[in-house]
Order: sequence, then structure tokens, then C-alpha cells
Amino acid sequence: MKSLFLAGCACVVAAAPVLAADPSVPYPENYRSWHHVKSMVIEEGHPLHAAFGGIHHLYANQKALEGYRNGRFPDGAVIVFDLLEASRADGAVTEGARKVAGVMHKDAKRYAATGGWGFEGFAGGDPAKRVVADKAEGACFACHAPQKDRDYVFSSLRDR
Ligand code: HEC
Repeated sequence: MKSLFLAGCACVVAAAPVLAADPSVPYPENYRSWHHVKSMVIEEGHPLHAAFGGIHHLYANQKALEGYRNGRFPDGAVIVFDLLEASRADGAVTEGARKVAGVMHKDAKRYAATGGWGFEGFAGGDPAKRVVADKAEGACFACHAPQKDRDYVFSSLRDR
């Protein structure tokens, strides 16, 4: 009886810090089959070209769609900023290699320091290549912060 109690105790102690210390944003499996919100091409001359030049498509899961519709994004809402190289030739702009898959993942408690959103980027779309180093005060949130009235989201659904 005593050893059982001790084993249970050790387990709780071991599990707690793991939960608290792992704020990693999960890689958004299958996001390309989610709802397409919008696309945009950022060309040379745009102030964000250095970081976000190329063509990006935004995808939202079901919970994020609720948020786009009613202005408050529930926990579990995920939006992906899928950035690809864009090349211009013969009067057409075409998609190239993936530069980064940027992710916003809503969890009000876990990401309380950044408006309830976890921000992450996966270089080349590779789940193992995380690019956001300082999650609590990262540049991602700094730029999204002025969108507070819209739950830190810039884009809107396009109903046409
Ligand atoms: C300099 C400002 C800026 C920075 C820094 C920035 N973003 Fe954004 N982000 C934007 C803008 C503007 C949009 C809207 C793009 C559009 O309408 O197509 C956006 C859109 C998004 C979206 C789609 C949801 C929305 O808000 O419309 C995600 C996801 C996203 N960004 C993730 C990130 C991540 C992850 C980082 C950090 C690696 C980051 N962003 C850094 C400006 C920024």
C-alpha cells in the first residue's frame, strides 16, 4: 500500500512540470484541407517584404471559423499563414517552395502572455524546424497586438 502511494505521488510530481513547461504550438496536421480564408502576394517594395515576401494563403480550422464569424476565437482555434516563394514570369505569378508555415493556436490559459494565442513558424513547413525562439515576447505578438479588438487577428473571412 505504501509503495503504491509513493508511486502515484512520483507520477503526479513528474507529470506536472511537463504540462506547465511545454507551451509548444502543435504542428497543424492537414491544414491544407481546412477552410481557405484568403491569399495575398507581397512583392518587393512592401515594408514586410524581407520577412513575408512571396505568396501566402491563410487556412482556418472549424473553431477558427467560429472566431472569424463572431469575433471571439475559442480555445482550439488554429489559423495557418502558409508562405510560399512567388516568381513572376511571362505575365504570371506562380507559387514556389514553401518558406514558412506560420501558426496561431488559441489556448487562453496556456498562452495568456500573448493574448491567448501561441505563435510558431515551421521553416519550409517542416514540423521539426521551429523558428519562434522567444514565445512570450516574440516579434509575432508585438505586431499582432494592435489588433486586440479583433482578438489579435488581422484577416477577415471573404464571403464571395
Ligand atoms: C510586422 C507585422 C507582423 C509580424 C511580425 C507577424 N505578423 Fe502575422 N500577420 C500580419 C498581417 C498584416 C497579417 C494579415 C495578412 C493577410 O491579411 O493576408 C498577419 C496574419 C497572420 C496569420 C493569419 C491570422 C491573421 O492575423 O490574419 C497568422 C497565423 C500569422 N500572421 C502568424 C504570425 C506568426 C507565427 C508570426 C511570427 C513568426 C507573425 N505572424 C508575425 C503581420 C505580422
